[in-house]
Amino acid sequence: HSQFGIETDSMTLQRFVLHEQRKHADASGELTSLLTSMLVAIKAIASATQKAGLAKLYGIAGSTNVQGEEVKKLDVLSNELMINMLKSSYTTCLLVSEENDELIEVEEKKRGKYIVTFDPLDGSSNIDCLVSIGTIFGIYKKRDNGPATVDDVLRPGSEMVAAGYALYGSATMVVLSTGDGVNGFTLDPSIGEFILTHPNMKCKSKGSIYSLNEGYAKTWSKGMAEYIRTRKEPAAGKKVMGQRYVGSMVADVHRTILNGGIFLYPPTASAPNGKLRLLYECNPMAYIIEQAGGLATTGKQRILDIKPTKIHERAPIILGSKEDVEECLEYLAKYD
Ligand code: AHG
Ligand code: MN
Ligand code: MN
Ligand code: MN
Repeated sequence: HSQFGIETDSMTLQRFVLHEQRKHADASGELTSLLTSMLVAIKAIASATQKAGLAKLYGIAGSTNVQGEEVKKLDVLSNELMINMLKSSYTTCLLVSEENDELIEVEEKKRGKYIVTFDPLDGSSNIDCLVSIGTIFGIYKKRDNGPATVDDVLRPGSEMVAAGYALYGSATMVVLSTGDGVNGFTLDPSIGEFILTHPNMKCKSKGSIYSLNEGYAKTWSKGMAEYIRTRKEPAAGKKVMGQRYVGSMVADVHRTILNGGIFLYPPTASAPNGKLRLLYECNPMAYIIEQAGGLATTGKQRILDIKPTKIHERAPIILGSKEDVEECLEYLAKYD
């Protein structure tokens, strides 16, 4: 359908979500509105990321967040964009952001039935050195018609109705699941629309890359240390694995879905529950990887089964190709 080199019938994310909405007879269109508004924030973050240097958006904002991390200007900008676009979509009632200590309650007249947990800018330590960064989000529907409370968000990730991420890399992509598989959309800056480029994404059952921060090797459990060692020094007949680690979860997980393999953030001495946050990093990525046929576990339980107790709690995470995750669990089980 291309006239004069211009696509005249692209499958935009907008069209795709509207089509998905038709599958649910009771759909009110609220989720479609929520995603459309969130995409505006994501496009604005993508634009800010591309010109961060010019717009003097590098450097720290001079404060530290509840995570004890230096907050970057792009963290602040991304957070404000996500909060403003989600609130003004009239579809949300509660928001949880990595950058806000407390639950964000949407004002009465703007309330809808959805709750969004999000990491507005993932991989902040990579902003200034131009390495890929991202945005991660998870979406719950309020459980009943009463006012939403923190209990509406302290629910297992398995109760999410949608989740996904944006990756601001050499191109900007949004990878999304609304519970019926995973689809990837690439931003076409010439029309400002996300176009379906990766339909029905699947994570192959075994990969050849392992991905974790080897700097913490001294603090790994015996099982984890043996698993990683045997990736480099495999038993006879087994192939050695390659190692890749970007340090932005979105980039490392996206590569794991596309190429296969395993991504791990195990407990460390300073972080007994790992570093990655359950509500807006581990759960959304676990939801996506399972929808793509992979696995996501803490090493002891399925990520999506965890009943959260605090909105910023952390969880160890091992995710990726089914056979790779299962083999890692076998090593961990040897020393339990
Ligand atoms: P954020 O920038 O949102 O705080 O997340 C950073 C996280 C995640 O993106 C990445 O996987 C991890 O930090 C890297 O941590 P290490 O530098 O300890 O490996
Ligand atoms: Mn952070
Ligand atoms: Mn993050
Ligand atoms: Mn972040």
